[in-house]
Amino acid sequence: MGVLCCVDGKTSFVWRLLLLIVCVAEMVCGQVRYSVPEEMATGSVVGNIIQDLGLEVKRLRSGRARIFTEDGSEYIGLNAEMGTLVVAKRIDREELCQQLSPCSLHFQIILDNPMELHRIDVEITDINDNAPFFSKKEYNFQVSESASPGARYSLHSAKDPDVAHNTIQTYKLNPPDNFKLNVVSRSDGTKYIEMVLHTSLDREKQEEHTLSLTAFDGGNPQKSGSVKINVVVLDANDNAPVFSQSVYRASVPENASKGTVVLRVTATDDDKGANEEVMYSFSHHTDAAASLFKIDTHTGEITVISVLDYEKAKNYEIDIEATDKGGLADTSKLLIEVTDQNDNAPVISIISLSNPIPEDSAPDTVIAMLNIKDLDSGRNGQIKCFITRDLPFKIKSSSTNFYSLMSDDVLDREIMPEYNITITATDDGSPPFSTNKTIHLRLSDVNDHAPVFPQSLVNAFIPENNPPGMSLLSVKASDQDSGNNARISYFLEDSQLNGRSASAYFSVNAQSGEILAVRSFDYEQTKEFHIHVKAQDGGSPPLSSNVTVKILIQDQNDNPPQVLYPVQTGGSVVGEMVPRSADVGYLVSKVVAVDVDSGQNAWLSYKLQKATDRALFEVGLQNGEIRTIRQVTDKDPVNQKLTVIVEDNGQPSRSATVIVNVAVADSFSEVMSEFTDFTHDKEYNDNLTFYLVLALAVVSFLFITCLVVIISVKIYRWRRERMFYQSNGNLPVIPYYPPLYADVGGTGTLKQALSYEVYGTTDSRKSDLKSPHPFSESTLNVDHCAARTVPRHKTHSEHMFVEVRAARFSLP
Ligand SMILES: *[C@@H]1O[C@H](CO)[C@@H](O)[C@H](O)[C@H]1NC(C)=O
Ligand SMILES: *[C@@H]1O[C@H](CO)[C@@H](O)[C@H](O)[C@H]1NC(C)=O
Repeated sequence: MGVLCCVDGKTSFVWRLLLLIVCVAEMVCGQVRYSVPEEMATGSVVGNIIQDLGLEVKRLRSGRARIFTEDGSEYIGLNAEMGTLVVAKRIDREELCQQLSPCSLHFQIILDNPMELHRIDVEITDINDNAPFFSKKEYNFQVSESASPGARYSLHSAKDPDVAHNTIQTYKLNPPDNFKLNVVSRSDGTKYIEMVLHTSLDREKQEEHTLSLTAFDGGNPQKSGSVKINVVVLDANDNAPVFSQSVYRASVPENASKGTVVLRVTATDDDKGANEEVMYSFSHHTDAAASLFKIDTHTGEITVISVLDYEKAKNYEIDIEATDKGGLADTSKLLIEVTDQNDNAPVISIISLSNPIPEDSAPDTVIAMLNIKDLDSGRNGQIKCFITRDLPFKIKSSSTNFYSLMSDDVLDREIMPEYNITITATDDGSPPFSTNKTIHLRLSDVNDHAPVFPQSLVNAFIPENNPPGMSLLSVKASDQDSGNNARISYFLEDSQLNGRSASAYFSVNAQSGEILAVRSFDYEQTKEFHIHVKAQDGGSPPLSSNVTVKILIQDQNDNPPQVLYPVQTGGSVVGEMVPRSADVGYLVSKVVAVDVDSGQNAWLSYKLQKATDRALFEVGLQNGEIRTIRQVTDKDPVNQKLTVIVEDNGQPSRSATVIVNVAVADSFSEVMSEFTDFTHDKEYNDNLTFYLVLALAVVSFLFITCLVVIISVKIYRWRRERMFYQSNGNLPVIPYYPPLYADVGGTGTLKQALSYEVYGTTDSRKSDLKSPHPFSESTLNVDHCAARTVPRHKTHSEHMFVEVRAARFSLP
């Protein structure tokens, strides 16, 4: 423990300062001693704890500095503003300590946050505030005139509650003619006085003597007290009773019942008869003793008449007197010691308690300050103190009767939110007494756990074409902390999805963790997203963790099959050719279709929906192949129109239809004659006719013009030749130009002109088809023509149609 520091209230300032330096240097849980005289005015300063304990006024206030006394007495008060200890009420040293010296007040100054304990001792010094006094008003002695010098008469010593030199120092007897004063020291150190006859008395001379006994103390100024002694001189001579012992000692247990005999005193008198009879009495005693003990007048037996308590008084001093009928007496002293019994259980009081304590409190944090005491003494008052086993706490004695309850280990509210700590104090008596006190200690939460998701990855499914605002799923994290530290908010972590912020696609409800789709998704565009959702608790600082949510877009059957082949455009047709010699199972064509959906939604099946002759063709359910199912006969019409429906396997299913035109023919001419019927509609024909007529007119005009020019030239030449022959001229040879329409397989220009003629008019068609020219060339010409005459969108289909025909014809 700390160093003992003594600061005497009366010592000089320099001395005080020196001590103070020692005090402050060593103070931790210190001890300070002050000294003040008793009877100081209320409010007088006893000491300054700010200086002496090195504390600050601020600390006093924050620590709620207060005084704790074990017995609850309030002699000294604490002025927290000034940091001074002051006299709170009248201190009477004599009341406080009787004859005990030195007389001290002990108390603790307790501070909280953190807990501190300072022991203060205040010694109360004596002042000479009491004069000596005698308990008897006067003494009446009857002294036989025959009494020889040396006869002793017991007197009671005077009392002075003060101590040391302030108590009785000397006695004086006046007048000192016949009697002298004798101060006798007993073996136990106490003193008593007796009056000794030193000159014989003569009743006939003076029947009564009045003396005065005065006691003086050693105080300054000196005080005194006196008693009157009347001595009546008797005519007879007797023997005085004599006690068998000058001091009697007895001990009695504190739990002795009423009527217990403590001791028996005896005095003997040598006289005979009535003078022999001795009567016993308490001559001088405290009131307390008189109420507890009684002496039997005749037997001298001392008995207990009330309840003794060792804790109130440990011993009693009683003067006893034995008197005979003649008035002669002897005195003796009786010392009764009360022995302690283990009749008090320890008392546990909690001076200060921090509850709850934060769970992250370091080991050795003081939780409570306890005062444990037992009123018994010796072994009966020796206390052993322990707490419930296997708890992360310990109890430590910090100074006499004071204990600190401290944490002994790392605490964790999530494992154990509260503790019941039972403090047991047992004394060493036989049988021992023990006392329990339970502290219900709670731990307050500290944000030491992050929210936790049950999985680090969760999958969510959402059908495509979802309505915006659709809920996908809720993520939920848990946090082991409590209160705000466990209040979880959810956030969408920003990331890039398809080059856009994740929040453009999803939103997360901060409270519920529900994930909503902000927009509608298309499986054909994006099949899955990965987003991160963060869970953050409300602690300070907050802790967080995240979960990856894999969002899988589920395909819906939102796309119908698309037919790639045969290409189908409005109004135009596709043709396939089947030779009349084709066998059963002849592969006519294949319908090719795709579906951009996936899985079942893209699983296509092909069916023949309509046909000119259902018995002739079939369509492969899986592969879309169009095959013949019987031998083609001559009776079968050339034009066969098949409608194939392509269906996907979605729910509900979507479909597309395609029309396939099939020509049952052995030659292309046969096909053409049939096909053109529906290839060219009326408007087309009208237009074509108009252009062809126009072209014919232009050609005719050019032809006639050429004819005229040629004839003119011929005539001109003929004339010149005639002139040349006549004049022997050397003119160059003129080449021969055949007629235009004679050169059918000639230059492109001419052929084109011919083609117009061939296709432009319905009448001339047949003759042209019978011509030996390669069909491909001719059809190419048709294409050129159509491109110039039909609306733009038809061009492509025409082209396709032509190519297909070309392909079929190249088959063997
Ligand atoms: C502490 O004691 C109280 C009341 O006796 C009881 O309700 C509680 O469960 C106990 N706590 C522990 C941790 O033992
Ligand atoms: C998610 O948390 C882990 C640790 O738990 C961390 O490594 C990772 O960077 C976090 N991811 C995001 C996107 O915040």
